[in-house]
Amino acid sequence: MPQQTYIMCKPDAVRRGLVGEIISRFERKGLSIVRAELRTIDRDTASRHYAEHEGKGFFEDLLAFITSGPSMLMVIEGPDDAGDDVFAICRTLMGSTNPATAAPGTIRGDYGTLVTENLVHGSDSTESSAREIAIFFG
Ligand code: RTP
Ligand code: MG
Repeated sequence: MPQQTYIMCKPDAVRRGLVGEIISRFERKGLSIVRAELRTIDRDTASRHYAEHEGKGFFEDLLAFITSGPSMLMVIEGPDDAGDDVFAICRTLMGSTNPATAAPGTIRGDYGTLVTENLVHGSDSTESSAREIAIFFG
């Protein structure tokens, strides 16, 4: 079975009308969208999703931003033989966390300027993907 990953277009991407552009980059790469829902994430769900960052200086700003409007929540699949490479494939398309230094050609490198408003989220491992799909679609 193809490996699934949780990808989300964050509220800045929805507000700026970049959802189509972002989704088409994943599609053109050869990935498939298997679930999608436009939803405003509540504070409780956002805290569970970002639990690893609780207590850090940016945590409150991150929660305020991620709950500030609708996000496009998605489950994306790689091709059968890509296996766990799907996480690297998606995160390479997204670019590094801080858009200020993300490479041109990546989503964050082409469209972002701020580390908080960095347009997309993607799971980083099989474990985080299973956990995040359960949080948002379980
Ligand atoms: P994400 O979880 O959203 O896909 O992003 P990521 O793996 O590339 O980055 P991560 O380290 O998990 O951080 C989660 C989100 O927190 C915000 N952040 N702000 N001000 C800061 O120093 C800072 N560091 C991280 C970013 O919005 C990042 O996406
Ligand atoms: Mg992360």
